[in-house]
Amino acid sequence: MKRTIKDLVGLRGKTVLLRTDFNVPIDENGRIMDITRIASSLPTIKYLIKQKAKVVILSHLGRPKGYDVHKSLWPVAMFLKGELRCGVGFCHSLSFDEIKYRVSLVREGSVLLLENTRFFEGEESCDMTLSKKLASLGDIYVNDAFGTAHRRNASTFGVARILPNAIGLLMEKELKAISPIVDEPKRPFVAVIGGAKVSSKLKVLKSIIKKADSLIIGGAMAYTFLKAQGESIGESLVEEDMVDDCLEILEIAKSLGKKVLLPIDHIVADASTKKPSVKEVKTIKENMTGYDIGAETIKMFAKEISKAKQIFWNGPMGKYEEARFSEGTCEVGNAIANCKGFTVVGGGDTLAAVNQFELGDGIDFMSTGGGATMEFIEQGRLPCIEVIQEKII
Ligand code: ADP
Ligand code: 3PG
Ligand code: MG
Repeated sequence: MKRTIKDLVGLRGKTVLLRTDFNVPIDENGRIMDITRIASSLPTIKYLIKQKAKVVILSHLGRPKGYDVHKSLWPVAMFLKGELRCGVGFCHSLSFDEIKYRVSLVREGSVLLLENTRFFEGEESCDMTLSKKLASLGDIYVNDAFGTAHRRNASTFGVARILPNAIGLLMEKELKAISPIVDEPKRPFVAVIGGAKVSSKLKVLKSIIKKADSLIIGGAMAYTFLKAQGESIGESLVEEDMVDDCLEILEIAKSLGKKVLLPIDHIVADASTKKPSVKEVKTIKENMTGYDIGAETIKMFAKEISKAKQIFWNGPMGKYEEARFSEGTCEVGNAIANCKGFTVVGGGDTLAAVNQFELGDGIDFMSTGGGATMEFIEQGRLPCIEVIQEKII
């Protein structure tokens, strides 16, 4: 068992470097579209404040290549200000001299949020110099970023190897809820996978197919599979260099007698005109882009879902942010929420969709992890949790 913040004594006056996953959808006006991930880490933040620690928070947001004002954590700092009854500062600077100075000003029981960790060179390569610089800011490292626990980054992995450490309350809750799926899934176990992060999710699908009884694939993920089967996909999102991996997954499924369900009809937009018309088709022709699954696919997916004793869902079935492409996600989400089996839903966008369509009451566990939860189900462990010290019993 991993050490948690509850096992840490004498936090008063200590600077706690807290890694959270505040990678939330934010629109072009800086409005946070779904607060689930931030709200999920509030118990950890509030606990540390109550213990009179000086709380310095680290998180990434999106996948920026260097500084990008649209990927600033500033809106999150504003949100935290409204939620916490303590001082909340935000440090725009990327200069460690300035950051150190700002950290030195943090009072006991107060919070300072630093800028997006992916603005710092060396974050994603887990550079040792950056890890050391980050570690020099605090006395103790706490990781509550379950959603990012599959990424060996400087702020999630590198720092943990340097400072005394523990996991936060969200991380503890996630591990407790998801571990039963990893150990003994109830059958039939149906995995519903969609969204857009094809390459990072495909890797995991290779072993999820061994654990699940059937695999439902929708969203942008589906087109690479359809292409692998020789179907035309027009201008839909595809990762050409993943076609062979898709074929391999389909072959593994066949050899194990597992079902893989792919879309049989689509909602497409005409990619050749400026004012694209939207229609439902069985085959995606040239100049057409697939943005959602069609009505027949919804029916087929819902039927499979209704038979499940256990479900894991990650990734919207279409470009759900636009109402005209949201039906697939809404209907598949409804089928999952109405399923009598145990349902776990994870992922930043998937949670946003669940909240948008008000499906939360029918879901047994809402995980803040998307890729992380998939990798945890697949491997039973995550590198950024492994690196945390064990509880001393
Ligand atoms: P999660 O955050 O839940 O893990 P992802 O980040 O993988 O999910 O995917 C969510 C994104 O996928 C959304 O922005 C959605 O618009 C996009 N998406 C899903 N289907 C399609 C599609 N057919 N074409 C383009 N984008 C899509
Ligand atoms: C997620 O949204 O799945 C996590 O925040 C990790 O983000 P990443 O896939 O960009 O590393
Ligand atoms: Mg996402």
